[in-house]
Amino acid sequence: MLKGKSIVVCVSGGIAAYKVVEVVSRLRKLEAEINVIMTKNAEEFVSPLTFQSISHNHVVSDMFAEPKKWDVEHISLARKADLFVIAPATANVIGKIASGIADDMLTTTVMATKAPVIFVPAMNDYMYSNPIVQENIGKLKGLGYSFMEPDTGMMAAEGTFGKGRLPEPSAIVEKITEMLYPKKDMNGIRVLITAGPTREPIDPVRYISNHSSGKMGYAAASVAVKRGAEVTVISGPVSIAPPAGANMINVTTCLEMYDEVMRKYKDHDVVILVAAVADYRSASIADKKIKKTEDDMSVKLVKNPDIARELGKVKGNRIVVGTCAETNDLVSNAKAKLESKNFDMIMANDVTMEGAGFGVDTNIVKIIKRDGNMLELPKMQKTEVADRLLDEVVRMLGK
Ligand code: PMT
Repeated sequence: MLKGKSIVVCVSGGIAAYKVVEVVSRLRKLEAEINVIMTKNAEEFVSPLTFQSISHNHVVSDMFAEPKKWDVEHISLARKADLFVIAPATANVIGKIASGIADDMLTTTVMATKAPVIFVPAMNDYMYSNPIVQENIGKLKGLGYSFMEPDTGMMAAEGTFGKGRLPEPSAIVEKITEMLYPKKDMNGIRVLITAGPTREPIDPVRYISNHSSGKMGYAAASVAVKRGAEVTVISGPVSIAPPAGANMINVTTCLEMYDEVMRKYKDHDVVILVAAVADYRSASIADKKIKKTEDDMSVKLVKNPDIARELGKVKGNRIVVGTCAETNDLVSNAKAKLESKNFDMIMANDVTMEGAGFGVDTNIVKIIKRDGNMLELPKMQKTEVADRLLDEVVRMLGK
């Protein structure tokens, strides 16, 4: 199944390194050509000889060792690979690559490759949730690197429960196969996506907004790019890296988002409205900071245009997908919006559920179609949710 594919497996120094032996073994059984690079620390956990025996190839770790099979080893490995897999990816190796540090065979080779790279992090759960690690992961994702989410369970080293375990070898191999044979079923399809919140100013220092981080919309954009679509994102203000390969249009307010959607929708086949748009804006924007005087104050709000509803009137035969974040009556509210905004499909998330909605990397959604069919998805990464949503879009396009 993987015959003719060259995979470089990079092993960094974590207790989970032993599980990667099975990953290599499974990949070999699928007839992939495997080269293993180990860090010095990884050699403390598993002997290079083990990987050498399983991969049937010389294991590389020392940058200055006499070249065995390859001329300049890291360059030739970087060039010939179809895919790089870093497993386990420690906080250290993630941090180094995010910072452009290339001080050993693993980091040098990863940085010298143009092949896709997937990180499979495994580390202590506190380390994994550390904002520095998360920021590095976010930065690398924004640069187009892929990541697998660690599993939650008993941590081998600590004996405690947490999120940071290396995923099962079968799951890693499945992901690798998916990356080597990506779906390209959106080639030639032009997709417009709104993402993030809008900000409605009150004065030069204050605004009305909501908790949208842009993660769901950006996930939809990066998955659509990977599947071959030409993607434009109209994004409200967010602090995450833009999706690699998408055209970005940055806006702040609902009125700006409305103008851009109306300017752009005609050039697109599919419009996916993930943005959490403010329904109201301040009737007036003070030109100076409003001073604290009375015990109470009120701000007069006026209704913003409903971008989705206006698009629904003029969409023609384009597919328009809506989303909704609800706290109650999820399905009936979603169905009402599907009808009133003339969506072809709506993705509904109950934002009161843990792991769903604003700010998190996962979501729990129901995808409801015009014919009443409903797909209920369990908690998944936002990229996986996006993949399932795009499967439905592709089906609707009759591809
Ligand atoms: O960004 P994240 O942190 O990842 O969070 C993702 C999300 C929770 C924001 C996202 O999954 C989501 O649910 N987005 C829709 C938010 C919402 O509540 O929408 P709504 O129910 O107000 O509107 C329904 C639809 O109409 C949406 O497609 C919305 O983009 C659109 N709309 C709404 C109001 C408006 N004035 N114009 C619009 O186009």
